[in-house]
Amino acid sequence: MITPIILCGGSGTRLWPLSRKSYPKQFVQLIGDNTLFQASVRRMSGADFAAPVVLTNSDFRFIVTEQLMEIGQDPAAILIEPEGRNTAPAILAAALWLQKTDPEGLMLVSPSDHVIPDTAAFQAAIARGTAAARAGQLVTFGIAPTHAETGYGYLELAALPSDKVVELTRFIEKPDTARAEAMLAAGNYLWNAGIFLFSARTIVDAFRTHAPDLLPPVQAAIDGGRPDLGFFRLDPQAWSGAEDISIDYAVMEKADNLAVVPFAGGWSDLGGWDAIWRESIQDDRGVATSGPVTAIDCHDTLLRSEDRGLELVGLGLGNIIAIAMPDAVLVADASRAQDVKAAVTALKAKN
Ligand code: GDD
Ligand code: MG
Repeated sequence: MITPIILCGGSGTRLWPLSRKSYPKQFVQLIGDNTLFQASVRRMSGADFAAPVVLTNSDFRFIVTEQLMEIGQDPAAILIEPEGRNTAPAILAAALWLQKTDPEGLMLVSPSDHVIPDTAAFQAAIARGTAAARAGQLVTFGIAPTHAETGYGYLELAALPSDKVVELTRFIEKPDTARAEAMLAAGNYLWNAGIFLFSARTIVDAFRTHAPDLLPPVQAAIDGGRPDLGFFRLDPQAWSGAEDISIDYAVMEKADNLAVVPFAGGWSDLGGWDAIWRESIQDDRGVATSGPVTAIDCHDTLLRSEDRGLELVGLGLGNIIAIAMPDAVLVADASRAQDVKAAVTALKAKN
């Protein structure tokens, strides 16, 4: 059995004003009938999977339980991080937690904010990675790159991509543009999907080797933690001693027991409104709409009204993103989608 470890502590500011600090994108129904979090949980359920361990923070805990209940999924545990310290401490906490009962158990670490439409293809890729994970590898999942993205990790393959498990020679997290362009041109690189498969023992050993300073505070946060209704609260004081760092920098860039399963089944991390536009159903002029919206003579435009009582009309627009919420409206040039994060920072400074 594989235990899904679901990370949902991020705040997704690039999808403002829909994604908020208090209600980030993973809990929003962006595409399809479920929220992204619910879709992630469902993708990792079935005969091969144990109940999930969810890592989140105190603010989101009731959203998590409510959304799990809606899809009829009981969690194995919901671990509450006193504050967000990024993915390395969160994943280590899950590994130490799992190790208590099942040290050889495999954990499938997954973000909660991605879109992977083909569950069968996804589960087949996971199945292809299990032997390597049981043999002590840190298994990543690789996506064929389409552009010189600087927001992702890159996997350098020892051999050209195939559908087999391939050994990794290097993991490069968030390169600058020049380096990303060079890797795209070279052809033996895949994007890191942000999904990892390994045994609890393997990843704890990797932390011990590459990020030993994280072990004492994270272990102490579990030892000093306390059950609270259906949740387990990590100890705040111990937790605050853990470095704020992602698993990609803390472990993946340094480890030498890496493998990759190439994944061609369709994947998007919905990292901005441009990605939402690409993943949405569009008319033949590239217009995607959601909610009470009227688009007249528009092309290559995303129009969403998230308020049933708020009619949004686009007239003669091209390459525009307009998102209307009851209390905030974003109107942006589509080419500036990635700068929404900066807009949120500017707003914060104003308030
Ligand atoms: N529980 C918890 N606690 N979850 C967290 C925390 C935290 O402190 N920080 C982030 N997360 C969750 C996010 O909600 C998201 O689901 C996932 O962990 C990954 O974090 P991101 O902050 O979205 O990472 P990223 O997108 O910059 O980069 C990662 O994903 C890329 C693919 O989308 C890296 O793994 C890259 O290498 C990868 O290409
Ligand atoms: Mg992300």
